[in-house]
Amino acid sequence: MTNPDRSMAGKTCLITGATAGIGAAAALELARRGARVVIVGRSGERCGATAASIRERAGNPEVEFLVADLSSQREVRRLAEQFRARHDRLDVLINNAGALFALRRTSADGIEMTLALNHLAGFLLTNLLLDVLRRSAPARIVNVSSDAHKDVGGFDFDDPQALARPRGRTYGTSEFASLLHSVTMPWAHPAFVQYARTKLANLLFTLELADRLKGTGVTANALHPGFVATRFMAGNGALGWFMRCWARVLGASPEQGARTVVHLACAPDVGGVTGRYFVNEQPAPSSPAARDAEAARRLWRLSEELTAAPTPPA
Ligand SMILES: NC(=O)c1ccc[n+]([C@@H]2O[C@H](COP(=O)([O-])OP(=O)(O)OC[C@H]3O[C@@H](n4cnc5c(N)ncnc54)[C@H](OP(=O)(O)O)[C@@H]3O)[C@@H](O)[C@H]2O)c1
Repeated sequence: MTNPDRSMAGKTCLITGATAGIGAAAALELARRGARVVIVGRSGERCGATAASIRERAGNPEVEFLVADLSSQREVRRLAEQFRARHDRLDVLINNAGALFALRRTSADGIEMTLALNHLAGFLLTNLLLDVLRRSAPARIVNVSSDAHKDVGGFDFDDPQALARPRGRTYGTSEFASLLHSVTMPWAHPAFVQYARTKLANLLFTLELADRLKGTGVTANALHPGFVATRFMAGNGALGWFMRCWARVLGASPEQGARTVVHLACAPDVGGVTGRYFVNEQPAPSSPAARDAEAARRLWRLSEELTAAPTPPA
């Protein structure tokens, strides 16, 4: 049956991390509302299968996919080029792809993986597509963060790539050390600390981006989707298994997790809202560290250095 709400007809949405979980659920809902939806994931096979399923379930043929490993800056740049080659407008950009890595890894660019994927990919992709968003204004940028940002008191500018060993808690490559952390103090596992820093980075990025985009008709907001039962943390040994068991028992469905994403992408009453944090489709307080304008400017400069992204002036 056709969805009576076709409010997104004629709009183009690009959503990263949309082959599973919250991103796939949000992509389906946007397609149901009539949007042209471009989903992004690492595997052509998974992207193709998800796009086909969304087309069929939404009754909307305009669902496409682009393949990119967003932890690689070269692939983010290629993704932006491919998007431009196929589309002349972008009404909604949703930076959703994110992960947590129990063992410390580095990206193809030699950058700590959580920082590379959860923050720098969105920073680079957004800046590479800003002119298209501006041309399409009113347009929206939606950054999927997390309440986990409250677990850290600030972004660690002295150690953004988590190389230090605070109080013996090494974020390293030892499966044994990771297992030990997972069974003794899972909440203090160094992977969680680094994840929380990158989710704080999503909010600082949103704050500074909203400021730089004032008057352009392009808004930027961030959100926490809730505790959601998805594939998040799959492939992370004991830590991932433990967390996913909890999520299966206590977590919301991906559809529930996608609600605030869809709200920020579509709702008329948030069209003029920018630089804010949302939970359960409502504005919500972020941590004091996430509202630190000086930290937001400093993170912007660091992100520029790490990506060489073309960025608008402050
Ligand atoms: N689940 C929760 O409880 C929760 C809570 C707070 C915040 N969040 C945030 O919500 C967002 C989505 O999480 P989720 O729970 O839906 O996770 P998920 O089920 O693991 O889905 C992650 C998505 O990201 C894609 N992805 C992963 N690595 C990628 C890479 N290197 N390049 C491109 N795409 C990549 C995956 O696609 P492929 O594997 O096909 O590439 C998949 O589509 C994340 O930013 C997460 O931090 C989740």
